[in-house]
Amino acid sequence: MKSISFSWEEAGVSKDEIEELKASMDEYTAHLQSVTNDGGFEDLEASLNAPSTGTDDILQAVERFSNDDLKYVIIIGIGGSNLGTKAVYDALYGELDAFDAERRPKLVFLDTASPTLLQNVKDLLIEVNEPEEVVVNVISKSGGTMETIANFESMYQFMRERFGKADSRFVLTTDEDSKLAEAATDGMTVLTIPKMVGGRFSVFAAVGLFPLALAGIDVEMLLSGAVGIRDRCLGGDNIALESAALTLHHFEDDVRINNSFFFNPELESAGKWYRQLMGESIGKREDLDGKEVHRGITPIVSIGSADLHSMAQLYFGGPRDKFTSFVYASQDQVKSSVPKIPEFGLVDGLEGKTYAELMSAIYDGVKAAYRKNSLPYAEVDLKEISEYTIGQFLQFKMLEMMYLARLLNLNAFDQPAVEDYKIETKGILRA
Ligand code: PA5
Repeated sequence: MKSISFSWEEAGVSKDEIEELKASMDEYTAHLQSVTNDGGFEDLEASLNAPSTGTDDILQAVERFSNDDLKYVIIIGIGGSNLGTKAVYDALYGELDAFDAERRPKLVFLDTASPTLLQNVKDLLIEVNEPEEVVVNVISKSGGTMETIANFESMYQFMRERFGKADSRFVLTTDEDSKLAEAATDGMTVLTIPKMVGGRFSVFAAVGLFPLALAGIDVEMLLSGAVGIRDRCLGGDNIALESAALTLHHFEDDVRINNSFFFNPELESAGKWYRQLMGESIGKREDLDGKEVHRGITPIVSIGSADLHSMAQLYFGGPRDKFTSFVYASQDQVKSSVPKIPEFGLVDGLEGKTYAELMSAIYDGVKAAYRKNSLPYAEVDLKEISEYTIGQFLQFKMLEMMYLARLLNLNAFDQPAVEDYKIETKGILRA
């Protein structure tokens, strides 16, 4: 099994400083170790135990819903309730899933309140003849998110009109005592999310595992990757803490934009997942002492090589306010080469190269340009894109965020400001 690696020689930070910052987190590391040794779900960091908790209940539910005719799993959820699932699904099945008509079942993500998206999903189900060909997985930790509930009720009505009673095709993933759990009818299945596992940390709970396993993804490998990196970090090779310490160093130097630069386009959704993880965990009005600080780091996501053709000018020539984390897995197992066509030969040295060689050359060229411009970066080498390495990557980043929040004296696990818009919108709807 391949282990991801993390390197930061070009991060513009000294080893001594990182060692000092790491030492300042000894107590917190000891706490995290005790959380994982304990294995329970009582602590704020309980999500660390999600990948080692056992999947029996979830896989039993998957078995009940799996059948040869299953075509679509409609995921109704938003934010922490769907971004992790989409990150894994897109990484493994690629952005071109829509063109792979034969592979079933497909996950279809219904997140925002878009009448067009809703209609598209309903249209997709025109080819479905039996309710057994569909599962609707409604995911909401709070059970009260407006967009999710609107989409749930719309799809419930649609399925009822289409098939008569189709309650048994609904799986509700939510907190045990949420309004959504209470609203479940007898035919529906309810999967619960441990209380202390918040949305953006919940991909290794039923939130992600049920739909991913139903889509045929090897969730045991995903979890084994997550447990592997968690134990590696907490056991001493703490790359999550190193990454957090580097980010803190740059934050203190007023470098407050964090650029996750993926060189595999199928990882774009992982970037969006990370954007939420950092945005909500680190963007805070108050620190842990209750002092008003308005602290934050702005996460941005770039995709190589496409975004070089839109953002490189800004990155190399613009303000020096970004710390970049490159993420790359060479995919030389997929063999495609640029053909040799004698009458063309438009770019010296290009023809005959494999696509993997081309991307690797671009990647190395970009890093050389970063060095030339003295722009700081770290690197995550995923080695390959697989359940195991994606599991490692997501857990690495969740642990990094716990450390980063702690270094910044912030609570990584709440999101009080998100409520601001929810309260206002609910007021407008009631008026
Ligand atoms: O991370 C968070 O808490 C939020 O982004 C939520 O995931 C999002 O608002 C959806 O909430 P819920 O799962 O309660 O529907």
